[in-house]
Amino acid sequence: MMISDGLNKAVNAQIGREFGAHFQYVQIAVFFDDLGMKQTAQFFYNQADEEHQHAMKFLKYVVDTGGQVVIPAISAPKATFSSAEEAVQLSLTWEQEVTRQINNLMDIAVSEKDYAAQQFLNWFTNEQIEEVSTMETLLKIVRQIQDKNLFMFENIIANMGTPAEGEA
Ligand SMILES: [Fe+2]
Ligand SMILES: [Fe+2]
Repeated sequence: MMISDGLNKAVNAQIGREFGAHFQYVQIAVFFDDLGMKQTAQFFYNQADEEHQHAMKFLKYVVDTGGQVVIPAISAPKATFSSAEEAVQLSLTWEQEVTRQINNLMDIAVSEKDYAAQQFLNWFTNEQIEEVSTMETLLKIVRQIQDKNLFMFENIIANMGTPAEGEA
């Protein structure tokens, strides 16, 4: 089974963006770590791990379908934040953008009648529903709490638990 050149190129670009997401979430985790917010930091370190897994999932797909993996240059993540709200807002904006990118990949797969690719991309379509919804929830909470009560945020995050195994 061969992946088309066009889809291969588009997936390679997505591999770069998923690794980029990994770096961005690490940087956000460090921001919370520096504030002493260990639970929130851990939440974002876990989120970073998931993005690494997403990159590897795309990468494996290209390998399995006989394409050529070329990892593009990855731009530096945003490293400083003026507030917790800004960091969470960036996460939500990011996930909304990723949803558009996954939809674009799906558009290519549909136009090429590549049913295997559509099946593969469905996993990401579903994943993005969860990712966007999680970040929307965090943003609502952080806006209500405001920075002066950030440790309340720690307790809320701690009670959310970590994503189930294999659910990345
Ligand atoms: Fe992702
Ligand atoms: Fe994500």
